[in-house]
Amino acid sequence: MPRPRHCLIIAVAVAVAVAAGACGAIARADDAPGGGATVDSTQWVERGEYLARAADCGACHTAPGGKPFAGGLAISSPVGVIYASNITPSVEDGIGRYSEQQFERALRRGVRADGAHLYPAMPYTSYRILTDADVHVLYRYFMEVVAPVDAAAPRTELAFPMNIRVSMAAWNLLFLGGGPWQPDPRRSDGWNRGRYLVEGAAHCGTCHTPRGFLMQEKQGQLLAGGQVGAWFAPNITADVDSGIGSWSQDELVQYLRSGDARGKAQAAGSMGEAVEHSFQYLSAADLNAIATYVRSVPAIHDPADERSRFAVGQASSDLGQLRGTSAVAADSGTPSGAELFQGNCASCHAPLGQGSRDGYYPSLFSNSALGSRNPNNLIATILNGVNRTTAAGQAFMPGFGGGAVGLAALSDPEIASLGNYLLEHYGRRGIVVTAAQVAEVRRGGPSSPLIALARAAIAAAAIVLMLIVVLRVLKKRTRGKGINRTDRESPV
Ligand code: HEC
Ligand code: HEC
Ligand code: HEC
Repeated sequence: MPRPRHCLIIAVAVAVAVAAGACGAIARADDAPGGGATVDSTQWVERGEYLARAADCGACHTAPGGKPFAGGLAISSPVGVIYASNITPSVEDGIGRYSEQQFERALRRGVRADGAHLYPAMPYTSYRILTDADVHVLYRYFMEVVAPVDAAAPRTELAFPMNIRVSMAAWNLLFLGGGPWQPDPRRSDGWNRGRYLVEGAAHCGTCHTPRGFLMQEKQGQLLAGGQVGAWFAPNITADVDSGIGSWSQDELVQYLRSGDARGKAQAAGSMGEAVEHSFQYLSAADLNAIATYVRSVPAIHDPADERSRFAVGQASSDLGQLRGTSAVAADSGTPSGAELFQGNCASCHAPLGQGSRDGYYPSLFSNSALGSRNPNNLIATILNGVNRTTAAGQAFMPGFGGGAVGLAALSDPEIASLGNYLLEHYGRRGIVVTAAQVAEVRRGGPSSPLIALARAAIAAAAIVLMLIVVLRVLKKRTRGKGINRTDRESPV
């Protein structure tokens, strides 16, 4: 793997250069029309709350059942678990001591008040384009409106080499785009507002843009699809086959507001959370602006996508063949895919997989999770279920992975066999789910090759170190024994 190593070496080299103080400039974004109006004394609280929601600060900075913005949420990343900080104005445990400049640096440059670099699990690469006016309103909101919580968030301890925070300086130098936000004068205000939100506060690309070897968002691949933990954020460019080119503006707005685009896709996992905590609160004008911009992003086509994932599958049932077989129970040996489906899913998604008439239980055909070439979201849905509350009500499906709200726990081979049955009958034929894939999604998604590389390097270093120690010990002993030198054999 010459290229990745090469990158790593560059990164380390640049890190050293940066550590030596070669760099320190902080770009400042100018206020721009895309950033919205100026703030008067009465509106800033509302605007601060709106912005904090649009930027979904709470999604990461609030642990399940925890106090708002008190941090502690464990974010699984391909390089290990990263804990979100307490960003309440607590002086001891939060950001109570942050000046507005320090807050701006954390938000737009990924640098903490103490000068340490943040991991890009904090989406500063997107917030980088936030205008000064928006950063100011956010600062006031966090300092003056959010309640302080005196509770320290757990420390993040990543494996080598990711535990060296200064390496992020190198990473930033390579991948953190520069320059302030610039609206495009040739485009409409709506389009510019949409771009400002999509690339900034709403940070769609953080999840939907594929990442390269060093976890950077890939150039020229905006919104072309990326893995986020256990879930896959699909290609949402304008391509008809690979992306959402077949969606209308209204369908996209509706999906962002409620998490449900009937006959196309439902939002679970991190998208469900983004809809619940953030997008549903955006104004109709902002949602339309987002949809306008997303639909204008250059289409990225994957030749393997010969058909749109929303146009795959049909109603089907093997119920006839199942009649007369015993009821599906956890102890009935190895149940078949058909039995697992009828026993666990058909009660809600209907025996033909067509869902309920009112659409509350979605159809399993013409469904992104089963029509995709990537079966990740199907696996993740079966394991984790769906739980999303919006103004449209609660969408709830129990998980079958043995979690707290699950019904029955299905094993990895059972979920693989169920997944294959579903793909064959309702989804994309020829896509195969293996028990190993299920196990990986259960663990929280694939880990980065960087970690494998680092582990290999650590293992190699450990072996070399051990050899040195062994040789030293041997040398000492043989010296001590003097004339008997030749009596001993090498232990290796
Ligand atoms: C996708 C998850 C995510 C979102 C969204 C997010 N953050 Fe963060 N943030 C993090 C993580 C994770 C860290 C800690 C990173 C680390 O330890 O390197 C962090 C760190 C910070 C810090 C540094 C605090 C400290 O001293 O440790 C500040 C300030 C901050 N975030 C503010 C915000 C604000 C304001 C928003 C919304 C505009 C926001 N964050 C949105 C994940 C997120
Ligand atoms: C925190 C990660 C994250 C962010 C941020 C995010 N998405 Fe998603 N998105 C996902 C995931 C994961 C899915 C798949 C959800 C599922 O299948 O249940 C998804 C699904 C979608 C889909 C449906 C595609 C399909 O084929 O099922 C659309 C459309 C979409 N997102 C648009 C957006 C837009 C627009 C934004 C920004 C305004 C955005 N997303 C921000 C993670 C994210
Ligand atoms: C108790 C009712 C119920 C059961 C049982 C159930 N589901 Fe669901 N399922 C739902 C609901 C509700 C949704 C979400 C609808 C929405 O998001 O608007 C859903 C969504 C889905 C989705 C789309 C999720 C996405 O993110 O794209 C898939 C795929 C799915 N279910 C498969 C299954 C499978 C497979 C089983 C059996 C192992 C199953 N469901 C069992 C109610 C159920």
